[in-house]
Amino acid sequence: KRVAILISGRGSNMTALVEAAKAEGFPAETAVVISNKSGAEGLARARAAGIATLVIESKSFGKDRAAFETRLQSALDENRIELICLAGFMRLFTAEFVQRWHGRMLNIHPSLLPSFPGLDPHGQALRAGVKISGATVHFVIAETDAGPIVMQGAVAVRGDDTAETLAARVLEIEHRIYPDALRLVASGGTRLDGDICKTSAN
Ligand code: GRF
Repeated sequence: KRVAILISGRGSNMTALVEAAKAEGFPAETAVVISNKSGAEGLARARAAGIATLVIESKSFGKDRAAFETRLQSALDENRIELICLAGFMRLFTAEFVQRWHGRMLNIHPSLLPSFPGLDPHGQALRAGVKISGATVHFVIAETDAGPIVMQGAVAVRGDDTAETLAARVLEIEHRIYPDALRLVASGGTRLDGDICKTSAN
């Protein structure tokens, strides 16, 4: 499957996906990395990994999300993209775009969804006093940080954790489960049953 990875920043999850996809027999290849910010650190990382990059500056489209998505969709068409992986992509999509990519667009969020969607998930987890947190790979639906769950990974929360230390441990989990989830989805190991993603792995 030809994959586009969409980023807005650092791109460490993108790098984990790119490196995994280079392995012999991996069922997906990274066709392009697209950033909606020209300054994204991840762009240099993608180029260093030998991946084609593209910037579609969302700022220049102002509030016109549909116009941004029209431009994005043509880039996806040109690259014959079959699957989208959002990896720290900080722009919301219209319901139309999400519907068009239904079952073909993945996101990773650094909490055990449905707990703690949205901003500052680690702060939310610490304030709730949960003893286990983690990361979730899910199919994207119109609602933010929701949708059929493909894979999750957990970490223990420590008594002395700050949002930063917790984020660092969860990030290691993210780098492990996102490539695994992509492998599963790209190889046809998942099936959507309404709001639920059934997998051959569980
Ligand atoms: C990750 O924690 C991701 O789960 C969240 O934003 C962060 C992006 O990090 N949505 P990176 O750009 O992949 O390094």
